[in-house]
Amino acid sequence: EKGGYATFMEKEINDQPHAVADTLLGRTDASGRLVLDELRISEEQLKAVDRITIVACGTAAYAGMTAKYAIEHWTRIPVEVALAHEFRYCDPIVNERTLVVSISQSGETMDTLMAVKHARDLGALTISICNTHGSTIPRESDAVLYTHAGPEIAVASTKAFLAQITASYILGLYLAQLRGGSFADDAQAVMKELAEVPGKIETLLGRMGRVKEIAKFMADTRSVLFLGRHVGYPVAMEGALKLKELAYIHAEGFAAGELKHGPIALIEPGQPVFVIVPSPTSEHGLHGKVVSNIQEIRARGARTLVIAEEGDESVVPFADEVISVPATSQLLAPLLTVVPLQVFALWLSTAKGLDVDQPRNLAKSVTVE
Ligand code: M6R
Repeated sequence: EKGGYATFMEKEINDQPHAVADTLLGRTDASGRLVLDELRISEEQLKAVDRITIVACGTAAYAGMTAKYAIEHWTRIPVEVALAHEFRYCDPIVNERTLVVSISQSGETMDTLMAVKHARDLGALTISICNTHGSTIPRESDAVLYTHAGPEIAVASTKAFLAQITASYILGLYLAQLRGGSFADDAQAVMKELAEVPGKIETLLGRMGRVKEIAKFMADTRSVLFLGRHVGYPVAMEGALKLKELAYIHAEGFAAGELKHGPIALIEPGQPVFVIVPSPTSEHGLHGKVVSNIQEIRARGARTLVIAEEGDESVVPFADEVISVPATSQLLAPLLTVVPLQVFALWLSTAKGLDVDQPRNLAKSVTVE
């Protein structure tokens, strides 16, 4: 059942090319146009949407944060991401033109369910992105877009995260196509690029030996920091969450631009810091800005573990380790850059002799508020 792997988590990390490929499957017609008949919401209703709120918890919320960048870029509809338990009790501004998108692997998370019910009571249109057929959240929503990651057994979410990003991107591209704005034609090009991602994850998985080595020698580490920018920011937060839940060590993800506003004071000699570097081709010169951040923390003694696009030599002088990921466009990069962070958490937990699949104090689905 673990497919020859020692843990479900290792198996599920290695299942990720399929999780993405299967989630993409059957969502385009022969000409490459997105077709989401399964949504069962009229095109008129969807076209009328003027605000999107994504509600989710934990890893699913980080998938939502990633989706915000993509959906806003493609549709120009304002997207807000709310932790479901905060949304429910903050007197949210929601009406019939608001699309509330919930993201949940299990479909049973009580916090997320309560948020969806509340949104419906307020008249919002609700779509659930979910991995579990027949679960409660899809039943309580107007429509569902299933992720096809297959059952996820390990408490720490991995393949569901990639499938959630994929499904929310499909939804964003579909909305862009429906609205017919300037981006509509590009939706098909992005779908083609997404179709290449599973092969790239496969390539990346083949390179994870070094990450395992790094983790093995870090069993005594007491704190790890993660920095990222734009879509690299939620990836940094997800990397930190994986490490907290699996290795029980203090870990924190920051937006790299925030470093100088406080967190840089945490840097002392030997502090390990993962940095997710945007592609050198990213918009707005973000690459150069993150490379400067690496220089700044390196100068203060940080041990820099740098995740960068393959062929990006500019990071080499400031990196203690470079982990190369295949090139892809800026918005799709999280589907690759998060993988080394998952692998790192898996092997650090293993190095500490901990229970990878069943970390202490946690349940796979949190069915209480
Ligand atoms: O089943 P859900 O996607 O609704 O679960 C949400 C969170 O509880 C979940 O992602 C949690 O943060 C994971 N254990 C993270 O690895």
